[in-house]
Amino acid sequence: SVQIPSAYALLDWYDRHRRTLPWRSDPGQSADPYHVWLSEIMLQQTTVKAVIPYYLRFLEKFPTVEALAAAERDDVLAAWAGLGYYSRARNLHACAAAVVALGGFPDTTEELLKLPGVGSYTAAAIAAIAFNVPVVPVDGNVERITSRLFAVESPLPGARKELTHLARELNNAQEAQQRPSDFAQALFDLGASLCSPRSPACGLCPWQPHCEGQRTGLAPSLPRRAAK
Ligand code: ADE
Repeated sequence: SVQIPSAYALLDWYDRHRRTLPWRSDPGQSADPYHVWLSEIMLQQTTVKAVIPYYLRFLEKFPTVEALAAAERDDVLAAWAGLGYYSRARNLHACAAAVVALGGFPDTTEELLKLPGVGSYTAAAIAAIAFNVPVVPVDGNVERITSRLFAVESPLPGARKELTHLARELNNAQEAQQRPSDFAQALFDLGASLCSPRSPACGLCPWQPHCEGQRTGLAPSLPRRAAK
């Protein structure tokens, strides 16, 4: 059995270093599910830096999910132009219509999963970030963090199940369960800043004392990926 580092240490770091991002609420405020959903769809294949101007322009054009649902498809595709992966924009428009028909965004992962374009990662991200449901969305950041913390040397994609299990172990801590939205975003911020792909800044990491990847020197080489 593995030692689970303290969720408190990560949340405390997040409280001191959280990034200001346009889709994020102020500390202690709940986030708008429309903002969270839109940002998560945009962030699926595009970096935070590239998404920000598109996100702001998109919200200016379509300030609410009702406005988006009522828009012409061509206007939605035009606002998306440049982000690529146009199936995402078509799904986005269909999802907006489905949400309006439901009277608003559903607040469980199970119901969110039924929406067009919403898979298990996005459903968990919206549930945790917008509705404080104690689930953990596992993206590339979270896989990198868990593979390093527990020095998981088996390669992706095969290791995905184990890394998801380890992320859930982290999320089981009482402090994480009390702050699901912040815990998910703290993992994203840790993965985007200190626990970066090539040269992690382990000396500044709140989880450094518990990190097997740091202790063994394997951290920068994790997660491994199967040769194509
Ligand atoms: N990557 C995916 N979702 C994110 C979010 N909500 N904040 C920062 N980075 C992210």
